[in-house]
Amino acid sequence: MDLHDFKDVAENYDLYLDEMYKSEDNHAGFLDFYLDFAKEYGNEGVIDIACGTGAVLLYLAEHGIYADGTDISEEMCSVANEKAKGRGFDLNIFPADMTEFISDRKYSCAVIARSGFMHLLTSESQRAALLNIRENLVDGGMLTFNTFDPHPLFQAQQMNTKDTDYSFRLEYVNSSGQREKIYNAITYDPYTQIMSGNWKFETLDDKGNIIEERIRPLKMRQTYRQEMMYLLELTGYEIVNVYGGYHKESSNGSAKNVIWCVRKSDRRVKI
Ligand SMILES: C[S@@+](CC[C@H](N)C(=O)[O-])C[C@H]1O[C@@H](n2cnc3c(N)ncnc32)[C@H](O)[C@@H]1O
Repeated sequence: MDLHDFKDVAENYDLYLDEMYKSEDNHAGFLDFYLDFAKEYGNEGVIDIACGTGAVLLYLAEHGIYADGTDISEEMCSVANEKAKGRGFDLNIFPADMTEFISDRKYSCAVIARSGFMHLLTSESQRAALLNIRENLVDGGMLTFNTFDPHPLFQAQQMNTKDTDYSFRLEYVNSSGQREKIYNAITYDPYTQIMSGNWKFETLDDKGNIIEERIRPLKMRQTYRQEMMYLLELTGYEIVNVYGGYHKESSNGSAKNVIWCVRKSDRRVKI
């Protein structure tokens, strides 16, 4: 089980993410970035892969874009479905692993928003996902996803912390109206490029006493941009743009968030 497979995480995801992005934001402007991308390339339909609770999917639907959604977590899909219904949309949202989902239709545009791709923990699963997504795209179809470049200083810090060395992240009000504090602890393995962490949720009563504690694990993999370039070539994509942020900032060597916009090409390296 990973963070997003837990019902309590899925139900509270939007609430604590809103709070998190008030103070720290690698993702400012993400909704309009994906909307612009979908408007430009989504004329034959969009698939939002690893759609989570549907932040992007619903934004696209609200702007009149045809979009389906898929996520490996049944809990996240069910929250996304409820939200869609609540806003009057009947969307096709199905649980599936991005390395193997098969859709009835082919799309001209695929998005993996806000670090969904980083949940693939090996080069093999990244390769499987890229190949599988390619199968679900029309010829010339476009895909966007993001990766984090390993950063020597951040990663060195994380190599010196254990996955139980918690730091306070934020306080928010959960879906039951209770105050919760979130702490997380992350450790980094430079050999596998995996960040392993634990998220600790403390539920508080009116006086601030802890009445419940839940610990939820999370693993994400960082990818050097050089390895991603070769992986894209291997799996049959050509790179159209690489950005350092959702306002299409340039992606220089120090940009942490790397946003890839790639096109399904007719050439694929035979292996
Ligand atoms: C950081 S969340 C992002 C969710 C959503 N894209 C957003 O912007 O709010 C990552 C999502 O990836 C999903 N995920 C992880 N591994 C996956 C896989 N192999 N296939 C499909 N979805 C996956 C998780 O369940 C989670 O909902």
